[in-house]
Amino acid sequence: MSKEVYLHDLHKWALSPSSFPDFKISKYADEINLTLEEDFCIEATTNTTITHILLKTFVNDGDLTWFKEFLTSHNLILTEEYAFLETKVKNNQILSHLETLFNYGQIWNLRGCLENKTLGELIFPYGEGVVKKYEGDENSIAESIKLWKNGMFAKLSEEKKHTYFDIYSLLKRKGMIAELLFRSLEENNVDFIDDLEGQDIVLGDIDDPEVLKLLQQEQMMDVEVPETVEQEDKDMAGNQDDYLQSRLQYVGDSQLLTANKDAVMMQWEYKIMKLSADSLFSKTFSIDGFPAPNPDVCDTDDEVINVLNIGFGMGIIDTYIQENIISLRAKYPQKQFHHYIIEAHPDVLKQMEDKKWFEKKDVHVLKGRWQDQLMSLLDQNIFFNGIYYDTFSEHYKDMLELYDTIIGMIKYENGIFSFFNGLGSDCVFFYDVYKDLVKLDLLEKYGLKCTYMNTLVDTIDEKTWDGITKNYFDCPVFYHPMITFNHEL
Ligand SMILES: C[S@@+](CC[C@H](N)C(=O)[O-])C[C@H]1O[C@@H](n2cnc3c(N)ncnc32)[C@H](O)[C@@H]1O
Repeated sequence: MSKEVYLHDLHKWALSPSSFPDFKISKYADEINLTLEEDFCIEATTNTTITHILLKTFVNDGDLTWFKEFLTSHNLILTEEYAFLETKVKNNQILSHLETLFNYGQIWNLRGCLENKTLGELIFPYGEGVVKKYEGDENSIAESIKLWKNGMFAKLSEEKKHTYFDIYSLLKRKGMIAELLFRSLEENNVDFIDDLEGQDIVLGDIDDPEVLKLLQQEQMMDVEVPETVEQEDKDMAGNQDDYLQSRLQYVGDSQLLTANKDAVMMQWEYKIMKLSADSLFSKTFSIDGFPAPNPDVCDTDDEVINVLNIGFGMGIIDTYIQENIISLRAKYPQKQFHHYIIEAHPDVLKQMEDKKWFEKKDVHVLKGRWQDQLMSLLDQNIFFNGIYYDTFSEHYKDMLELYDTIIGMIKYENGIFSFFNGLGSDCVFFYDVYKDLVKLDLLEKYGLKCTYMNTLVDTIDEKTWDGITKNYFDCPVFYHPMITFNHEL
């Protein structure tokens, strides 16, 4: 007798559709532990879901009759009826099918073992930025990206392209909802471990030794709780206290590294720092490459121009800021320019001393963490034309805290806030989700408007990361954020 199963059971299982040649599944045969045994035990690697398969089918213009055969050959029938299981997946069907699968618990950020990609990457393997408007030299894009963009993507019908964007929006929306929900659970201190019997446990922030022990006992995962931690083993990139106590090393003018070779700052970011330094002045002055400040909004009589950079690092952005100030001072001698810098790390402060930053005219260095220093600027009623944020070993929740303060520090008319946008940047899909999440957070809570300038970077080239522990930017297009008050409100 056939066993009745629900799709929400089935979609968690790894499937091995040998009759579906495009997946080249046989390559993974050993890794994939088919889970059609009675206990439905799921291996951590067996993540490929029916949603991955459906999307891949759509991308490849394939059909899904194999799936029906697969069920039949395993004596299974679905409790629900799904039209897409019998037919080619049509443009107009796919969105509702995907919605259904999400309603049944499809996880937005799961990497399928097929190609080890998230759902978003099955649609846009190089992210949305590659198919939208950007600036930069096309030659710097890797061959594989060019091939995909000018071959596979360019050949799609307009209707299919449109559907790709619709699917991607849906996937991003599911990602944002999940992140917002997760944040709200965290804020409200809700402890939850999802489905102890299954494998879907979010481990990211579990640091309670009791919970870890429990999970080990449950043999849910292989977790080691270190007794003593050597300097090299400390999580400098993830833990601010460890980072601030660690030693740093400047490698000429090209890198700033921690003891365990995490990159704090790297040469490929010069171009982004130039763009960022220029944008800090772009709402007050006409700057090449930026739209002129809106005369209906801009305060042209603004006599005191204040710029703040949080995180000195290699001083790249601060050097560009100084260059801008020197040329603007020559043009507007009646205006005063002040350049503030907040820096917390003793080795970086030492470098600043060696390079005579403390002696520069109208440069004000505040030693310490921004969390402790910003209030003194607020107390002095200093308002800024431009604020830039680029620190290390901090997370998006630190930025949410930062927004609370800087909202009271940027000038309403001429002010702009920007930051080094590396949020989710080790995966193109997560990078796109965060891009939208930042926009939403700033608008909803503060009425701030965030637009992005897209620019090509060459970090996809593996040589960029030679000798570095972790590639922290794996996207071909950088989204440079420009955040101002929303004058249209
Ligand atoms: C990525 S680097 C900045 C690079 C810089 N944008 C440049 O152009 O060279 C980050 C810097 O932020 C500093 N930093 C980290 N956390 C900080 C905090 N909470 N407050 C102030 N500075 C911090 C680090 O010590 C480091 O110098």
